[in-house]
Amino acid sequence: MGKVIDECVKQEPILAASRDEIEALQLKKLKWALHYAYDNVPMYKKKYDNANVHPDDLIHLSDLSKFPFTTKEDLRLSYPFGMFAVPMKDVVRIHASSGTTGKPTVVGYTQNDIDIWAGLVARSIRASGGRPEHKLHVAYGYGLFTGGLGAHYGAEKLGCSVIPMSGGQTEKQVKMIIDFEPEIIMVTPSYMLALADAFEERGLDPQHTSLQVAIHGAEPWSEEMRQEIEQRFNIDAVDIYGLSELMGPGVANECVETKDGAHIWEDAFLPEIIDPNTFTPLPDGESGEFVLTSLFKEAMPIIRYRTKDLTRLLPGTAFSHRRFERINARTDDMMIIRGVNVFPSQIEEIILQEPALSPHYQITLSKKGHMDTISISVEGRPDIPSDAIKAAATNLAHHIKARIGVSSMIEIKPEGGVPRSQGKAIRVIDNR
Ligand code: DLL
Repeated sequence: MGKVIDECVKQEPILAASRDEIEALQLKKLKWALHYAYDNVPMYKKKYDNANVHPDDLIHLSDLSKFPFTTKEDLRLSYPFGMFAVPMKDVVRIHASSGTTGKPTVVGYTQNDIDIWAGLVARSIRASGGRPEHKLHVAYGYGLFTGGLGAHYGAEKLGCSVIPMSGGQTEKQVKMIIDFEPEIIMVTPSYMLALADAFEERGLDPQHTSLQVAIHGAEPWSEEMRQEIEQRFNIDAVDIYGLSELMGPGVANECVETKDGAHIWEDAFLPEIIDPNTFTPLPDGESGEFVLTSLFKEAMPIIRYRTKDLTRLLPGTAFSHRRFERINARTDDMMIIRGVNVFPSQIEEIILQEPALSPHYQITLSKKGHMDTISISVEGRPDIPSDAIKAAATNLAHHIKARIGVSSMIEIKPEGGVPRSQGKAIRVIDNR
């Protein structure tokens, strides 16, 4: 065991609990959560009555599969506060997802929910190598998005000196990192790459900042992107996962000493994987849709939430809590191009293998007559001659055809021509 793992387990022995202990705790909490949801949220009562199940039917953890799922649609139908289980006087915070289509989804928290959330983010930062003496720069957006405030409260709880920078204002981000010398940064991986460019454009070497660790999440990022960030900043980059419906960031986090996938904090959440077509639970190790149940939430209980994220469950390593394979696809970001299923992450992986191309990209889908077309905007890296960039673009189209099976148009943009993310990157524009 390394120093970070030792410290995490010393602070929270539950991280090394046996599977039997974890499952006994989960069963106890799950019984509470089901009863609580059934008794306090009309939507759950109606759903369970219609499905002819009652919280008393849960004897073993596996009985959870008898209970209906909760979907984003359920949350939309109860917009804004229909799923709250407590009176407004007990709700101390409200967040909402961006809701690119239709209504945003709203989440509420009691003081106890906020305290547990902060504790889980503090645990996540500790597992990433963060310590109370560190300065921690938060570049996730503050506001209705859970990233900024979620990171902030967790970092404070751990005892870090928090720099609440929020997203955007790239120039100022660079200045704050240079002047305040934070050891830790929490930011989306795509914006971290935009920050690397910003350092270089100002003649500064990102390898020589005070940063030691970056805690990245809120969007998919590949192993290639991890390597790119680690090399350019000379730091460790670890994965943090979460979603607003369940809480926000800190549902799961990677350990910096193993970097082998995020551990789900199983004393707070119960993970399942289901077959996305038949909805039946799959055993650990098999890939499917990630379904999560909160074992503690009071303001807005959430049972069997279908995240649409695709992954598989893996055994614990650094901690006994199970891990999941890095999420690089969602059921709803699959593009079907002339009958071929394509995920943006597959294209990202190939772009990052072309040394002459920058890691910024955007995919545009259009229709030419009845035909789907895919075009990919990329940029060359600074100082690479244009004929080498052209050759890399030709290579890229060739590898995409060979490995994924679709023909694509590669558009080479001038430096800065691909829009930079200041939070979650927009990877696909679908004009079909
Ligand atoms: O993105 C919460 C968060 C903030 C997580 C900061 C980590 C860091 P939502 O806006 O509700 O919440 O988006 C949740 O983002 O279902 C995934 O599809 C995606 N996502 C989040 N973390 C990761 C990750 C926040 N580490 C949705 N890897 C989720 C891949 C991620 N995808």
